[in-house]
Amino acid sequence: MASDGALPRQLAARALTAVLDNGRALDATLAPLLEPLGEARDRALTRRLCHGVLRDWPALDRLIGRLVEKPLKGRNRRLHFLLAVALHELRDGREPDHAVVHAAVAAARSLCGSRLAGLTNGVLRNFGRRREALLAELPDTAAFRLGYPGWLVEAIEADRGDKTQAILAAGNQSPPLWLRVNRRRIARETYREQLAQAGIEARAVDGFADALVLAERIAVSRLPGFDQGLVSIQDGAAQLAADYLELEAGQRVLDACAAPGGKSAHILERAEVELTALDIDGERLVRIGSTLDRLGFEARLVEGDAASPDSWWDGRHFDRILIDAPCSATGVIRRHPDIRWLRRPEDIEHLVATQREILDALWSLLRPGGILVYATCSLLRVENDEQARAFLERHADARAIDNPDMPGRPARPGRQILPGERDCDGFYYLAARRVP
Ligand SMILES: C[S@@+](CC[C@H](N)C(=O)[O-])C[C@H]1O[C@@H](n2cnc3c(N)ncnc32)[C@H](O)[C@@H]1O
Repeated sequence: MASDGALPRQLAARALTAVLDNGRALDATLAPLLEPLGEARDRALTRRLCHGVLRDWPALDRLIGRLVEKPLKGRNRRLHFLLAVALHELRDGREPDHAVVHAAVAAARSLCGSRLAGLTNGVLRNFGRRREALLAELPDTAAFRLGYPGWLVEAIEADRGDKTQAILAAGNQSPPLWLRVNRRRIARETYREQLAQAGIEARAVDGFADALVLAERIAVSRLPGFDQGLVSIQDGAAQLAADYLELEAGQRVLDACAAPGGKSAHILERAEVELTALDIDGERLVRIGSTLDRLGFEARLVEGDAASPDSWWDGRHFDRILIDAPCSATGVIRRHPDIRWLRRPEDIEHLVATQREILDALWSLLRPGGILVYATCSLLRVENDEQARAFLERHADARAIDNPDMPGRPARPGRQILPGERDCDGFYYLAARRVP
């Protein structure tokens, strides 16, 4: 363990306070906290500890309740999260128990002072003594065993039945690193050989024309030609949007929820199209610019609400429209374990209403014969096939396109990939043609 290991534990406790008490997103919280950390190893450790706690929060929170006499409140609340980090480490067993206790006590001392360092020592040693009995008391439910809020387990169970356990377990796995090779610049096999020469093992995957999956996760800076735009990071499921769009040179394409621009970039790699990349969030829109700059592409970047085209549309119809809709992101929980705690049941209703408004507003911007692709990284049917079916019922000139050879399973209408299937994130796609 590096030095006394206190700093990564302290930072993890601060980040977890922000996520679990204040509803902040983990990545946005961690970025400034990790910046001053010199060692890449400490940054990786801090992130891993946060992920570990978020994946086991119900059990850790319950254990702390049993081990600490009075709830830790106010300034001492941070200690609650520090204890969660230490209990997670004791449970996962990567480090010897004495090293975990030592690091936690050192972190508690600098975070909250000597008295609470003593409390930390006592609580963790008490856990060590009563471990079996305390763990046996935890409720034997999926929410506790797999670390999810009860409402989300119920929602997934209602939609996915006997696949629920596998879905929840897949959400606790770390995803492999998927690359998208810019085949305008280099053949996939040639890039795989470049990786091999750099000592990086990668495999191509059937059904994902531009993708390579690395055998081990590595720092992006080690990828040959990344800065020159030969390759990007993008999950396999997200790479399917470009296939569903059936792109051809010269088309006018709208990427309606485009930031940070992963799918916009892929669209431009696939064909010389005239792309409008729209997003409601001006700050996120800037990130599309830097994504496209690295790859040497240009697009018309527009800040606007996809549900109100009057404020930004020039009146010319599009040949292709991609709606990568704002959604619950329940399909990417393995990548963002904070999502399960940040989403609330009431958010789903709002998201479904926004998706419906965007679909209805953009349909008339598609030229007859054109294709609209609706995508979410959600698992919930209300955002996916139920949303798509209702859309098709509202629009008599919309026909679902059957894509039986695409990865995933038929969702009637559209196709669903469940998290972990084909090593992918969970994703849903509907492609619909506007009949003349
Ligand atoms: C799933 S993300 C898109 C990811 C992006 N397509 C990519 O591949 O990098 C959804 C995006 O929709 C945007 N958004 C949400 N509501 C919107 C609206 N009413 N109009 C346009 N964009 C919206 C969000 O700001 C967010 O950037």
